[in-house]
Amino acid sequence: MWALVSDGYGSVRLDEVDDPDPGPSEIVIGVTAFSVNRGETLQLEAPAPGWRPGKDIAGRVLAAADGFGPPAGTAVVAHVPSSGWAQRVAVAHTTVVELPAQVDATTAAALPLAGLTALRLLRRVGPLPGISILITGASGGVGHYVTELAVAAGAEVTAVSASLERGGRLATLGANVVTDVEQAQGRFDVVLDSVGGPGFTAARRKAYPAGRVLWFGQASRQPISVDFFDWIDGTAGAAIEQFHYAGTPEADAADLRTLVRLVHRGQLRPEIGVVDSWTRTAHVIEDLRARRIRGNAILTVE
Ligand SMILES: NC(=O)c1ccc[n+]([C@@H]2O[C@H](COP(=O)([O-])OP(=O)(O)OC[C@H]3O[C@@H](n4cnc5c(N)ncnc54)[C@H](OP(=O)(O)O)[C@@H]3O)[C@@H](O)[C@H]2O)c1
Repeated sequence: MWALVSDGYGSVRLDEVDDPDPGPSEIVIGVTAFSVNRGETLQLEAPAPGWRPGKDIAGRVLAAADGFGPPAGTAVVAHVPSSGWAQRVAVAHTTVVELPAQVDATTAAALPLAGLTALRLLRRVGPLPGISILITGASGGVGHYVTELAVAAGAEVTAVSASLERGGRLATLGANVVTDVEQAQGRFDVVLDSVGGPGFTAARRKAYPAGRVLWFGQASRQPISVDFFDWIDGTAGAAIEQFHYAGTPEADAADLRTLVRLVHRGQLRPEIGVVDSWTRTAHVIEDLRARRIRGNAILTVE
């Protein structure tokens, strides 16, 4: 079968690889759409031997597991550890989520990694009604989900994006959009930072002295720095909480089912900035790195 593999230069090329060899409790999915996440672009810069990219896939069951899980022909979405950017993928039957007819593969493929991250980030925040949230790097997939879910739950969201155009959908979802952290008015109960570098310090200063700072990414590729003397005024015990979305495969499936249900009910509407053929994945990766894509990037497998 065909699959995307590391080209050794930070991107991907199509290559012929062995078909998956499913175990007894695994099903084979015929992939029709997948998404590209920023994390995968980073992994491609230093690929482990034998690793193939691809975590978020949607498609149809080609071969069911022995007596378990959805039958052949069922539309499904899954979050897999790797190797998802391929025509066919074998996955444990417990980790796939069935799709209702109203949720197409392109939409479903936008959900797993970015959606799980947003859902779990907001759970970590805790009760949302009435709290103020500042989120940086908000024009990507995660930022759109965080904004839609948090606003719906009663939070006041201020979103930082490079331009008002890139932040346009965030504004429609109910966020106050600013193009620089310094423009954010007032102080915040919670700061969610995924950009790192000097922007982190600027964002952190926007939290109330006893406010929370959740650090979940480093899109700038620059580490954060923390100055003790910058942080002593009423902030005794203040903490930076590192966040990583990872869960068990079963927990991923349960939360993915929640995301699919929210989409089905019209309560979550993914921002899909680009849909293109998987033969153009390398171009899409380039565009994602260059901040030319708003929301999720979806590739379709012909
Ligand atoms: N901790 C976790 O478990 C976890 C899980 C998933 C993702 N993440 C991280 O969370 C962040 C958001 O994920 P995502 O999938 O939404 O990513 P994404 O689609 O690539 O969005 C990231 C956004 O960051 C902004 N950005 C600001 N400075 C940047 C810079 N110097 N270089 C590139 N982008 C910059 C860009 O928006 P503007 O151009 O509008 O500024 C971009 O849209 C990423 O950093 C990702 O690595 C973490």
